[in-house]
Amino acid sequence: MTDQPDVYPVPSEWAQRARMNAHGYETARTSARETPEAFWSEQARRLDWMTAPTRIKDVSFDKADFRIRWFEDGVLNVAWNCLDRHLETRGDETAIIWEGDDPDQSGRLSYRELHREVCRMANVLKGQGVAKGDRVTIYLPMIPAAAVAMLACARIGAVHSVVFGGFSPDSLAGRIEDCGSKVVITADEGRRGGKRVPLKANVDAALEKAAGAIVETVLIVSHTNADIPIVEGRDVRYGEAKHGVSDDCPCEPMNAEDPLFILYTSGSTGKPKGVLHTTGGYLFWAAWTHELVFDYRPGEVFWCTADVGWVTGHSYCVYGPLANGATTLMFEGVPNWPDHSRFWRIIDKHQVEIFYTAPTALRALMREGDGPVKATSRASLRLLGSVGEPINPEAWRWYHEVVGEGRCPIVDTWWQTETGGVLVSPLPGATHLKPGSATKPLPGVELELVDADGMVLEGAVSGNLVITDSWPGQMRTVWGDHQRFFDTYFSAYPGKYFTGDGCRRDEDGYYWITGRVDDVINVSGHRMGTAEVESALVLHEAVAEAAVVGFPHEIKGQGIYAYVTLNVGVEPTEALRKDLIAQVRREIGPIAAPDVIQWAPGLPKTRSGKIMRRILRKIAENEVGALGDTSTLADPAVVDDLVRNRAAGR
Ligand code: WT7
Repeated sequence: MTDQPDVYPVPSEWAQRARMNAHGYETARTSARETPEAFWSEQARRLDWMTAPTRIKDVSFDKADFRIRWFEDGVLNVAWNCLDRHLETRGDETAIIWEGDDPDQSGRLSYRELHREVCRMANVLKGQGVAKGDRVTIYLPMIPAAAVAMLACARIGAVHSVVFGGFSPDSLAGRIEDCGSKVVITADEGRRGGKRVPLKANVDAALEKAAGAIVETVLIVSHTNADIPIVEGRDVRYGEAKHGVSDDCPCEPMNAEDPLFILYTSGSTGKPKGVLHTTGGYLFWAAWTHELVFDYRPGEVFWCTADVGWVTGHSYCVYGPLANGATTLMFEGVPNWPDHSRFWRIIDKHQVEIFYTAPTALRALMREGDGPVKATSRASLRLLGSVGEPINPEAWRWYHEVVGEGRCPIVDTWWQTETGGVLVSPLPGATHLKPGSATKPLPGVELELVDADGMVLEGAVSGNLVITDSWPGQMRTVWGDHQRFFDTYFSAYPGKYFTGDGCRRDEDGYYWITGRVDDVINVSGHRMGTAEVESALVLHEAVAEAAVVGFPHEIKGQGIYAYVTLNVGVEPTEALRKDLIAQVRREIGPIAAPDVIQWAPGLPKTRSGKIMRRILRKIAENEVGALGDTSTLADPAVVDDLVRNRAAGR
């Protein structure tokens, strides 16, 4: 491996042809920094405004006058920007290519057809009493109806909250209650890897649990045509309802700062937060970054493999591509079914030019060897992207050499649910690539590294990643808890947004994200709060206490390691271990299932009772020689027990 380069220079044809080259990048960066009003006002013209904004940026991260407002006197509609404005120029071009879980199922929707579908669903929602500002929960598989539902909400000014179909009824219930949804849109079932996902049954179970829910209507899209019970007076079959409505529906004029959607994400404490994004800034950022980072050109097929239940699916399956008039591919299935060539076959089948996926999927496929990749052509590919977690250089090189045959630049995009879209990434025509580095901030993104005390660190150094100024796609609040928004992101380092990530900057000014520095675990590119998993475990009658940490996992990036203290008299058995894992799956969903459960007679705590996770992390990583200072522990012997138990595989 010694002959592999550390730097992959921008290929000359990319430097010449790309939407932004190195010079353009420097110019844009300087303009965004020195004349932000002029820069963003000019860039925002890519959207179609009913009233163009004149007040561009009004931001303060300081406690006394905390506010984040972009384009605040602008008026627009997201569905208009993603659909109507394209009808004249590209009405018959494909907006969505759908590839089913079953390789024999696929389809296409033109912009005109998608527009009609969205208007219909918007009218059905109106008929159910949904009005501007109302919340609608969307719990659907990766089918075009998911995009239709999101855009239908946007069209009438309703605020959507998409919940990933892999979340349990309990998780769904919490999210429905928290934002007070009036309507839930779901499907009879989803399909994933040849299995059925009982979405409608999960909604029924969720609504039984959600005591505070005010859901009046459950709108059901039929997908597998499974037999499902119907609750009279509440459940509406979309297939029937849509025939009674017009396919004409005007777009609600929305202020740029009106809410567009809520998306729940895990934090280090408490229940998931409802991240709120607004209309103008978010749509602008999704569209602008989609074009810039992926060098998107009209007519190309863009495929982001994320589910719309995550922010990546919001910004790069739906809003970014459709705002740019792109052809976006939605895939219902999984990378390893019916075989390990599935991704690459889909690329050939639909002639995908730009492909965007997560390192965890690449590592899982890489393990199967090069054969399943080489069985396909992939000649259509032009650019590759990575998102969700740090990509290890080995996976990066495999992606570059084997998948892209050395021909396609890789954009390693760092961002978060909170940021709305990509903030740190190479631009393929401007940035030399280094495997494992997300490289440099986009124009308008001002990063700093700080130490634990908030001291700004200069030069080649490691620290905590903060952002010192706002960008249009920034989240605006935590739904229902503005104080929590401020406390979570702006209180650690006054005047700055704290990302929760650790990061190294090298001598070339490149950024290397090292992972979360808070109590959040990144499992397969999905964020999991340790506190949530702990809460799910202690609900079990056998459990006295639980502490959860992350540990390095070959495929998932990080795995979930749970230390469990049982109640006095309870015997630790294999059956109980399975039961606890099942409990977490039931409470949160399969993605939260612990990889390891270690029985812990006691947990290492400070004298004030705080669990010392630093030590638990070291034991989970099997770095027992480097436990550090244990002298502040109330009972240091606890640590020896844990180390001994780990060695004995208990
Ligand atoms: C966290 C955000 C952004 C959409 C998917 C995840 C990690 C994300 C990268 C990357 C290193 C990354 C960070 C971040 N992360 N992308 N390219 N390199 N780390 O969204 O669930 O909000 O998680 O994912 O730790 O804070 P999310």
